[in-house]
Amino acid sequence: MCGIFGYVTNKEEALGPILIAAAERLTYRGYDSVGAATINSGKIDLRKDVGKVDSVAAKYNIAEMRGQRGITQLRWATFGEPSQVNSQPHLDSKGDMVGAHNGNVVNNVELREQFMAEGMTVRSQNDGETCVHAVERYISRGYQFIDAIRLAYGDLQGDYAFVIGRADDDKLYAFKKGSGMVVGLGDGFTCVSSDLPSILPLTRTVIRPQDGEIVTLWADRVEVRSVKDGKQIVRMPETVTESMDAVQKGGYPHFMLKEIHEQAQVARELIHLLDGSPDVQPLIEKMKSARHLYFIGCGTSYHAAMAGSVYFAQLAGRAVIPILAPQFIAQYAPAVGYEDVGIFVSQSGETKDVLNALEAAEARGMTCFGLANVVGSTLTRATSFCLPLCCGYEISVPATKTFTNQVVTFLYLAYRMAGKSTADLARIPDLMVQTIEMVAPQIEAIAKDINEWNDMYCLGYGATYPIALEGALKLKEITYAHCEGMLSTEFKHGPLSAVSKGFPIVFVAGPNDVPLIISGINEVKVRGARTIVVAEEDSRLRANGDDLVVIPKSDAQTNALLAVLPLQLLSYHMSVMRGFDPDFPRNLSKTLTVD
Ligand code: M6R
Repeated sequence: MCGIFGYVTNKEEALGPILIAAAERLTYRGYDSVGAATINSGKIDLRKDVGKVDSVAAKYNIAEMRGQRGITQLRWATFGEPSQVNSQPHLDSKGDMVGAHNGNVVNNVELREQFMAEGMTVRSQNDGETCVHAVERYISRGYQFIDAIRLAYGDLQGDYAFVIGRADDDKLYAFKKGSGMVVGLGDGFTCVSSDLPSILPLTRTVIRPQDGEIVTLWADRVEVRSVKDGKQIVRMPETVTESMDAVQKGGYPHFMLKEIHEQAQVARELIHLLDGSPDVQPLIEKMKSARHLYFIGCGTSYHAAMAGSVYFAQLAGRAVIPILAPQFIAQYAPAVGYEDVGIFVSQSGETKDVLNALEAAEARGMTCFGLANVVGSTLTRATSFCLPLCCGYEISVPATKTFTNQVVTFLYLAYRMAGKSTADLARIPDLMVQTIEMVAPQIEAIAKDINEWNDMYCLGYGATYPIALEGALKLKEITYAHCEGMLSTEFKHGPLSAVSKGFPIVFVAGPNDVPLIISGINEVKVRGARTIVVAEEDSRLRANGDDLVVIPKSDAQTNALLAVLPLQLLSYHMSVMRGFDPDFPRNLSKTLTVD
């Protein structure tokens, strides 16, 4: 997803390296184009194009850019194809102002037509440019800058964060609606960004503006005003204590591999936090007294929600409806009410589909809780209570450690719903370490063997069904191969016809489901499939499957959690063997703040 960064200093300096470094730190969000603008003694220098940060920076010598104010933007195309002209930042008609946004302005097309009819110079299809003209419209009508922004805010529909500067003053202005934005206060400079990682190496003193607030940044101070009445708002700076280690690869070739290896440690921290949390019991009470329970998310977070629903039913005898967020709106929102409880699950806490579902649920009076990794994200602020995932930064686009901690949270809550002691869960982190040790070399060899295939299946049953879906999603996401996740028993109802000699099929087997899985294995094996079975050691599975990837002995629920680790590793190795970058798969973005 797009990312913005703005920087204000009190003297002319080399801003190029600062902007490039900030852009690099935003790359984990996903992007296709890069741009930088500096404002120096009343002149705007703008350089931008499609491509990676290093190549665009080299092609346009961004490092040499100087000024007192700078803006950089990474664009992930939504309005307008990836092209030089659609790249951001954008100028106003006369080239006196420069701005960039992240997010989506949904009435972009209508506004562009209005601007052109009003005689403005519209150069691109991009909605970032629309934000600039929205301000320009009121400046040219004689409004002061803050008032022009307030009026522009009223015209711009959608969710976005926007930063803009004009050539003839010494400030940047930023405002947001629905998208993340953080302001940093440093020694002799201020800055604004879509998120923390691009700010933390510069300063740990931050302000988190809310929707409907306009921030004016000078080199030595910032001022926050309300869009509604233009009045000043007091927002006290906070000091961020989080470590920056998470945004370095720490010796691993990719963030994904590092994050896979961090899973045990973050699970340990999470279990410790949940054990000591006074918030868990009230949450359990609320869930116990709910008429219906919904776990709502998208992508990987939805798979965690599915795993959670299996755990709640199997362990606590409590039915939960796991549902993809947009389908929740279409299917269940009309049926929910104040007696129901929903847990909205999202790593980023900014996924628009999830936030839309939250809004729909709240409109019906449903009690809404969150489960999110990014503290301070919209989801954490918009729900009455949001459990943190405690994973630190997850940079790699494919979610790994946040998935396992979502699943651990649901497992923990299911134990508490069932009135079971959670002491047993303390062994999970060690089991995760053991799993990686046990499977790593074998998985790498299997990845090599099946790497030529562009079609695969990943099958599970019961607690391993969501894990099979998650394994398939990881494989699709970073190998670009087609991999379908499915309930193992469904395979014979159609997909069986796709099987040919050597066709790879991964089975994820729970300890109680071995006979059923053996039937599935034989059905496909006799038709030529290569079967890879992820399970506890079991002589029956060893005798029937082609490869048995052994994970440590545990129980049905923990087994499912552990089984995802070899699947993450399989997708990682296949991606690398294909020459792709697993951290930044093509066309994808870490944070999806669009519909
Ligand atoms: O931030 P979220 O958890 O709400 O994101 C939801 C999905 O976009 C996300 O899980 C996506 O499927 C992952 N990149 C998969 O690895």
